[in-house]
Order: sequence, then structure tokens, then C-alpha cells
Amino acid sequence: RIFQSASDASKAVAEEIAELIKQRQKEGKNAILGLATGSSPKTVYAELIRMHKEEGLSFKNVISFNLDEYYPMQPDAIQSYWRFMREQLFNHVDIPEGNYHIPDGTVSPQMLAQHCEEYEKMIEDAGGLDFQLLGIGGNGHIGFNEPGSHENSRTRLMMLDHSTRAAAKADFGGELTKVPKKAITMGVSKILSAKRVVLLAWGERKAPKIADAVEGVVSEHNPASYLQQHPNALFVVDEAAASEL
Ligand code: GLP
Repeated sequence: RIFQSASDASKAVAEEIAELIKQRQKEGKNAILGLATGSSPKTVYAELIRMHKEEGLSFKNVISFNLDEYYPMQPDAIQSYWRFMREQLFNHVDIPEGNYHIPDGTVSPQMLAQHCEEYEKMIEDAGGLDFQLLGIGGNGHIGFNEPGSHENSRTRLMMLDHSTRAAAKADFGGELTKVPKKAITMGVSKILSAKRVVLLAWGERKAPKIADAVEGVVSEHNPASYLQQHPNALFVVDEAAASEL
């Protein structure tokens, strides 16, 4: 779906998420959301906060799992995705603490494999993802599944591409050496297991990878292209990101 602006698009996506939450409330069930960081979802979160404050949308029945976290990373560091999610959404709505999950950037190397396995198990035990929100990296990555990630990949430690680290540099005081070399990411298979997947992309910079992901061959070279194989995936883009379609 192509929208005139990121703002119109974000409202439509927030509306869909709100409908899901309310539907699950009616059924007396939890809504299990997969959430993303990066600049793209910020406007969706802002709209959800508005709906909470002005329309009484409650997040009490929301259980969420974030896609990724840098490794290593302290939760209170400025660049942590833990902090990002609290500042951009969780601190402003009534989601109970304990209902949101983010991969732990402080886990010891010895415990990493177990942590990743437990993260997937928590998602399964919650009933699986009803909805997965995604951004897209300049190289086509989803979460931190860099090019080369297999469609069956599981939650794991990923070496970040140079281009990914360069794009993140500004968040780390402009110093590439300060950008972590690794991150924990939910695997492609878990992302694809969500009942609904919505990928957001704004701006011309994303246009080539969007065109390739939507119209090109499905390939590990562009992990976003795996969404072509999903029965209920939607790319939500503004006109600039759609310009090469
Ligand atoms: C990071 C995140 C991704 C996100 C990407 C794009 O790499 N791990 O999940 O999609 O950035 O970010 P932005 O939305 O700021 O372009």
C-alpha cells in the first residue's frame, strides 16, 4: 500500500494494531505483538500513544516481543533498544511491566544460545505472534537478519554488516568503532511465523530495496524478499519509498 505520506501510513498501521488489540480484548485474550525499533515505527508508536491518551486504547492485554538488540548492550545505554521502546511506547501506555520482552544485550556469551532458545520458547508459549511490525535496513535486513540469513534461521547472534554499522554511527556519537559488531536478532523463521506481517519504509533511500523485495526474486541477498512467501504480509510505503516500484 502506497500512502502519500509516512504520517498517513502510520495512522493506518496504528489503526490496524489497535483493532487487533480491541478484538483480542473482546475475546478475553492477549494480543501478541512483534515490535521493531529504528526511526520508521516511531510515528506508529506516537499514534498508538495518542489513541491510548485520547481514545482510551488499553494495552493491558498486550504481550510484546521485540526483534533485536545490540550485543553487548546495557539496557540503560542511550542506544539500547530496551531504552528506545520504553521512551517511544511503553512508558506512555498501560502495558504491564513484564508483558514486554526484548533480547537481553547483557547475557554472557556462555548463556547466549540458551537465551535465544528461551526467547523463541516464550513467544511460542504466549501463543505465537499475531502481528509482526518490521522496518527494513538499507541492505534489506529485517530485524538484524543481514543478507545471507536463511529463511529457516532462528533467534541468534548476528555479525552486523559494515553498512548497517555505518548507518547506526550517528547514534554512537559518529564513531564507527563504538557501534557494536554484533546483535541478537529474532530469526527469519520466527518473523515469518507471525499471522500478519507489516513492513514499513519511508523515504527514497529505501526505494531500491523495496522494489527488489516486492518485485525481485526471493533471495537471501535481500531478507525482506522472504515476505513474498508469507500469506498475509503487507509492505506499507510512502511515495518516495515506492518510487522504484
Ligand atoms: C535497524 C533495526 C532494524 C530497522 C533498521 C532500519 O537496523 N535493527 O530493525 O528496520 O534499523 O531503521 P530505520 O527505520 O531507522 O530506517
